[in-house]
Amino acid sequence: MIKIYAPASIGNVGVGFDILGAAIIPIDGTLLGDCISIQSSNTFQFNCHGNFSDQLPKDIKKNIIWQAWNWFNEIIKKKIQISITLEKNMPIGSGLGSSASSIVASVLALNQFYKTNLNKKELIDIMGKLEGNISGSVHYDNVAPCYLGGLQLITDDKNHLTQKLPIFDNWLWVIAWPGVTLSTSTARNILPLTYDKEKCIKNSRNLSTFIHALYTKKSELAIRVMIDTIAEPYRIPLIPNFLKIKDAVTKLGASTCNISGSGPTLFSICLNFSIANKVKKWLEKNYIKNKKGFVYICKIDQLGARKIRI
Ligand code: HSE
Repeated sequence: MIKIYAPASIGNVGVGFDILGAAIIPIDGTLLGDCISIQSSNTFQFNCHGNFSDQLPKDIKKNIIWQAWNWFNEIIKKKIQISITLEKNMPIGSGLGSSASSIVASVLALNQFYKTNLNKKELIDIMGKLEGNISGSVHYDNVAPCYLGGLQLITDDKNHLTQKLPIFDNWLWVIAWPGVTLSTSTARNILPLTYDKEKCIKNSRNLSTFIHALYTKKSELAIRVMIDTIAEPYRIPLIPNFLKIKDAVTKLGASTCNISGSGPTLFSICLNFSIANKVKKWLEKNYIKNKKGFVYICKIDQLGARKIRI
């Protein structure tokens, strides 16, 4: 039997719409990411458990796991019957790369189980296409970090599609999911089709300065330019009280507060545990809407998707 875990991720990372993504892991040891197990079977069987399994589509053909299985059957031109189990630990429509987590775990598990030996480039290509089927557009800012770990820059160069960037070890990433969902396509459809020159220049300036700051280890500069001019301003109406929340956590000492991926999860970078704990408590009290919602203090997950011992 094969079992793969694929971590949660923050798309956009506050300054790189569709081209930056970071894999994260809660510091308390919570497994915030989906797991896929595969074993031989006489018929195709799909089992699902975990806190968020009830959110999955009832029609199996709409399920990403089924689509991934189908994709591999087409690659090897043979239908192999397997029993596949999804442990759905990630809420769908949360902005934490839930679909990417299921896709990455299933593609890697299938590649191992089928002994297809696809290389990194081929695997990431399949992952991106499957993600595109779900969200309506191909973007790699969740699948790349989820698969490869760390902070990833999506280049679009066919030979270097994604590149790992350095990131500050001492940054604590407080993530808060309110317990309600927001569809990625809704959050994408709200964006303008074209942008004016000023906004494009501002965006290029912030993003390139951010990357410069990572390489030159200028943490304060990196934080100052984590400003999203492309997506966040247009998504504010989708996140109730976003600006008030940003203001409140900044007053508690948080260095940033941005939307994770397409939301509604928010992430806030804090430079020490005392601030991170205050921000966590405040968000639990003021941003979480129901029992399903959560707040975690996370670190960057440098490992990405990995085999789990059974
Ligand atoms: N970059 C994508 C978006 C991420 O913001 O729409 C979706 O998780």
